Amino acid sequence: MKEKDAEKALPVHVGLIMDGNGRWAKRRGLPRSFGHKKGADTFTKAVEWFGNRGVKYLTVYAFSTENWKRPKEEIDGIMNLLDEYLDKADNNVEKNIKTVFIGDRERLDKNLQNKMRHLEEETSGCTGITAILAINYGGRDEIVRAVREIAKEAKYGKVNEITEEYIGNKLYTAGIPDPDVIARPSGEQRLSNFLLWQSAYSEFIFMDTLWPDFSEKDVDYILDEYAKRNRRFGAL
Ligand code: FPP
Repeated sequence: MKEKDAEKALPVHVGLIMDGNGRWAKRRGLPRSFGHKKGADTFTKAVEWFGNRGVKYLTVYAFSTENWKRPKEEIDGIMNLLDEYLDKADNNVEKNIKTVFIGDRERLDKNLQNKMRHLEEETSGCTGITAILAINYGGRDEIVRAVREIAKEAKYGKVNEITEEYIGNKLYTAGIPDPDVIARPSGEQRLSNFLLWQSAYSEFIFMDTLWPDFSEKDVDYILDEYAKRNRRFGAL
């Protein structure tokens, strides 16, 4: 390794908004479901690409609290892909990928919920990259839930002082460091309710690649671009 590479700042936690599946399919005259299928395959590969480069946490936005507004057929298709992923993901243990889910699981199929819990338990001792899948996740919803829980605790006199740390520990991501960088392929430049609290000091990288076409070159682009940023966290 060259000395310069050794000094390169590497993000500990990368957030990814997997956008552009529909447009990828449309450009090929295919149904949107093909884009999601290719997108799910890309996700599996991306976890390994980031893991191989030493990134410790990768959070992906797989299904938002707003995605229920899509046609039932499309929602069922995405849930099926998730189910297929869970059926194959036992090999995450061999790959040393700790796998975690964030979001409100209650609205998901019970069978899916069981498989999610099973995979979390199976991979809990893995020490490689942690893959965090945001499913039925919304940043505002996450904050509302935390506020409700704290209000309940306060009612019973269980809260001394409400601090940033206290709130952070009530979020789905409790114990996980904030994302250093959030990347969004597909040319859209917005956060879409992803990791609102956690992204306070994240670097943002927007790229034109559509998610199904996301490749190792894009991983390197994100890491190189991140290394160039001068993070000051409000200081000078
Ligand atoms: C956004 O693209 C993508 C989604 C809303 C779904 C993402 C889901 C996957 C990649 C598959 C999930 C499965 C696993 C196993 C992680 P879009 O449909 O909004 O694209 P568009 O903006 O081009 O229409």
